Amino acid sequence: MNNRLFKPLMFLLVLLSTIFNNASYSQEKSGIGGDFTLTSQQDKPYSLKDARGKVVLMFFGFTHCPDVCPNILGSIKAVLAELGDSADQVKPLFISVDPERDTPEVLSEYVKYFDPSVVGLTGTQDQIDAVVKQYRARYRLDKDNGSESYNVDHTSNLYVIDQQGKLVRIIPYGMPASEILNTVNKLISTT
Ligand code: NI
Repeated sequence: MNNRLFKPLMFLLVLLSTIFNNASYSQEKSGIGGDFTLTSQQDKPYSLKDARGKVVLMFFGFTHCPDVCPNILGSIKAVLAELGDSADQVKPLFISVDPERDTPEVLSEYVKYFDPSVVGLTGTQDQIDAVVKQYRARYRLDKDNGSESYNVDHTSNLYVIDQQGKLVRIIPYGMPASEILNTVNKLISTT
């Protein structure tokens, strides 16, 4: 193809793919989320409904995670500290995708290290898979090496759910805590 045609054609392709990506993204996002019931670190049923009236900060992970999960929990902890008295209007949820190792007891020890308000959730792999699917998340247990210390690849987005249980924002991993704080503050101030 000669260069005179190539550039405008490439421009058109980029433009079209941008339009299609945005369209499918907004359509997709409207179908994501919803209620679920799993098991808390107290070994009791816990439903997303139990957090109604609060802004939920939710993510998927596993307690053996070397960096991503501790970083997300660190950001959540920083947000709660910034919120001060308003921190009780936020409910952080940590959903383990590794129930074999993350029993309620293990989760209990783990989440309280970060903040006592964090609810750690587990369940059967099927129950967890259903929630993963609802939120269009992904994970992969990397058990091929046969070792006890397997890794787990997992979605590292932070899901922001409003006081009515509606997913309002997906914050990609790596955004500063101030970005999370701004989103939470907007939701708190509108109620
Ligand atoms: Ni992780």
